[in-house]
Amino acid sequence: MGYVGCSSSTSTPAPSSGHLELAGNGAYLVRNVIDCAGCHTADPTKPFGGGVKFPIDTAGHFVTSRNLTNDPATGMKLTEEQFLKVMQTGEDFTNHGQVLLVMPWPNFRWMTTDDLKALYAFLQVLPPVVNQIPPDDKGPAAGQGPVPLPAQYDEGEEVRPLPPTDAPVPLAPPGTPTTVPDPGHAVRGAAIMPLSYAKMPHFYKRTAEEQAAFGRGSYLVNAALCGECHTNKGGYSRVLKPGPDFLKIPAAEYLTGGTAFSVPPPLASVLKQTRTMSANLIGTGGYFNEPKTTFLSFAGIIDATAHVDDSPPLPLGWPMPAAHFRGLSLGELTDIYTYMKILAEDYDHTGQTDKETQGQARYCTGNADCQPGETCSVDGSADKAVNSQCVGKGCKVDSDCAACQKCTASTCQAPAASDACLTTGL
Ligand code: HEC
Ligand code: HEC
Repeated sequence: MGYVGCSSSTSTPAPSSGHLELAGNGAYLVRNVIDCAGCHTADPTKPFGGGVKFPIDTAGHFVTSRNLTNDPATGMKLTEEQFLKVMQTGEDFTNHGQVLLVMPWPNFRWMTTDDLKALYAFLQVLPPVVNQIPPDDKGPAAGQGPVPLPAQYDEGEEVRPLPPTDAPVPLAPPGTPTTVPDPGHAVRGAAIMPLSYAKMPHFYKRTAEEQAAFGRGSYLVNAALCGECHTNKGGYSRVLKPGPDFLKIPAAEYLTGGTAFSVPPPLASVLKQTRTMSANLIGTGGYFNEPKTTFLSFAGIIDATAHVDDSPPLPLGWPMPAAHFRGLSLGELTDIYTYMKILAEDYDHTGQTDKETQGQARYCTGNADCQPGETCSVDGSADKAVNSQCVGKGCKVDSDCAACQKCTASTCQAPAASDACLTTGL
């Protein structure tokens, strides 16, 4: 609990022990489940100091992640109540009346208020960082306001009542305690699963233990953003066009991968990756439906942060936050596995997109960086603006090639600069 225990700031009053415990729970979530710092740290010497600029359209509009530390001049000034509003409705307290556009509050809003308060307590004890955030330029998107927290779960294939936001589930059998504890949020997790249980008839025959693990896994997956990167329909993981479907998750694409990521230039040369694509996880041909996938092979990939089941065992592509998930308890990693495996096996995939997602495009500065027989497409490559990449591998279909590359005349070629895959993925 480095940040929590070691907070040496003199401007912050000493937190109470209850507060510290809450902050400890928040620290666990932030360290291992949700990578807030990944988006909220532009300068590694200023953790949680914000300043990462995110383009939001092709017309040059952008938003910048905020400083989440409690630096009095440049940091987060939200009260706990306002913070809950941010997380549950997307309200932007810096730009009044507007909604946050990049911040994944549509996922966070389903967390329990206890967990949200834990996140707030954690942010409050972070060492203050001085970092002034420049104003956003949201363009037409500034017209969208915050979205009240729905009383039911309404972003998936079926609408469901939500269990109470905090742990105990009210039950009133005569003469017995009035609450049943739901410490792992299994009941809540089961409610915030985007796919229809009607399309999973076998689910009801699973054991109580499996169903509980599924619910706990769902809470982690659907609040922890696996879906944000592993669901893709035309470049988005949910409907962002205002209207009746606003924020709905496309069921046919849920967790079937295909999001294309251009690795930012300074990282590309370090990671030796030019472009990556999120993997198909639960589709018929998805990772969790492959016969060779077991809990141990999944845990092995996360632990090594590499494709240890392939040769050569390339490191996992950016920005898959496996290093982050390594800190999950074994129980929680098992819950995530169970959730994915049950969806892969039980859900009726008829009509679901089954994407043949592609591996990572390797970064190169010369042929020596590529596999034998491949060449480095540095010069004249169609999407040189993105980065140079190894091409020329023998192939039969596009899925034999790296992210967004095309199989042309039995060899993998770089995509044209105008190829839609580069912006909208597969
Ligand atoms: C995908 C990137 C991303 C992730 C992950 C993310 N944020 Fe954000 N967050 C942003 C951006 C960008 C903004 C501001 C602009 C916007 O979204 O319109 C923001 C805004 C905020 C704000 C509003 C602050 C203010 O003063 O107005 C809070 C609070 C916040 N984030 C907290 C968190 C917490 C806590 C987590 C982790 C649980 C987190 N964020 C994870 C990108 C992210
Ligand atoms: C920030 C984006 C992001 C998030 C969040 C994310 N992933 Fe990934 N994931 C990726 C990308 C990109 C790849 C492809 C990496 C590559 O090419 O090596 C990937 C690959 C994987 C693979 C490897 C599949 C294979 O075929 O070898 C697994 C398994 C996986 N992700 C599971 C998860 C789970 C489970 C979660 C949530 C707990 C998650 N991911 C969250 C981006 C993400």
